[in-house]
Amino acid sequence: YGTYSYGLFKKLGVPGPRPLPYFGNILSYRKPRVDFLQLMINSQNSKETDNHKALSDQELIAQSIIFIFAGYETTSSTLSFLLYILATHPDVQQKLQEEIDATFPNKAPPTYDVLAQMEYLDMVVNETLRMFPIAIRLERLCKKDVEIHGVSIPKGTTVMVPISVLHKDPQLWPEPEEFRPERFSKKNKDSINPYVYLPFGTGPRNCIGMRFAIMNMKLAIVRVLQNFSFKPCKETQIPLKISSQGVLRPEKPVVLKVVLRDGTISGA
Ligand code: HEM
Repeated sequence: YGTYSYGLFKKLGVPGPRPLPYFGNILSYRKPRVDFLQLMINSQNSKETDNHKALSDQELIAQSIIFIFAGYETTSSTLSFLLYILATHPDVQQKLQEEIDATFPNKAPPTYDVLAQMEYLDMVVNETLRMFPIAIRLERLCKKDVEIHGVSIPKGTTVMVPISVLHKDPQLWPEPEEFRPERFSKKNKDSINPYVYLPFGTGPRNCIGMRFAIMNMKLAIVRVLQNFSFKPCKETQIPLKISSQGVLRPEKPVVLKVVLRDGTISGA
């Protein structure tokens, strides 16, 4: 229901529902879709599956569900943490907005290539993921007996990699509780050991959605910061308490004050 006058509602002069775009919908079902689900359905019938087993319907459903679980809360929680950081670090927020405004003048819509090149945005996202790695640990199953640095690990052992501990080790990250995007500046980032910064895991089974997640978050941040600024309010929990059960998330929802930057809002 909306403010659209149609048919009987128009005659009565009151707002009513829009007519259902019946034919439009049917036609759009016929258009080929390029999404993850469709690609998996196509792969079931593809000739390429001659060399390997096709996905069963159950596997296809399982893949779809894991993508929603693995992709949704991870991204939204990281964005909540990032906005909390911006609200409590106005200098960082201002610098980021300056970069956004200079890169996309007059609130121009962001483009993929340009977003990927934004330096400060990348630094802020990386440092947020260091301080708040949603997946607090990785697990791997040892496939054969090995000895690493004098520690023997028998076959069948589950080895746990404590991401959140590595990300807060003061020997690796001086004053680890401080939010410092400069740790990931062009000058500094090459000196970071890739095995101590693991927000998306590592190796052949690292996060399959990493590139999508990073781009998705950067797009959301730019679009939101083009129009709004974030400030703490009396409901904001400072310092933020973290729940240690399961994945990393705030104990209480992050509540912030949202301020319109100027009179206009751009970007649907
Ligand atoms: C900020 C967002 C995200 C974070 C921090 C994150 C983090 C992770 C981590 C740490 C792993 C384990 C990697 C390993 O064991 O080495 C993982 C796995 C996975 N992630 Fe993400 N992820 C994010 C977003 C996404 C998105 C958007 C998707 C899908 C669209 C996704 C799909 C997956 C899948 C399917 C796996 C399992 C990969 C496998 O076992 O081969 N993730 N993610």
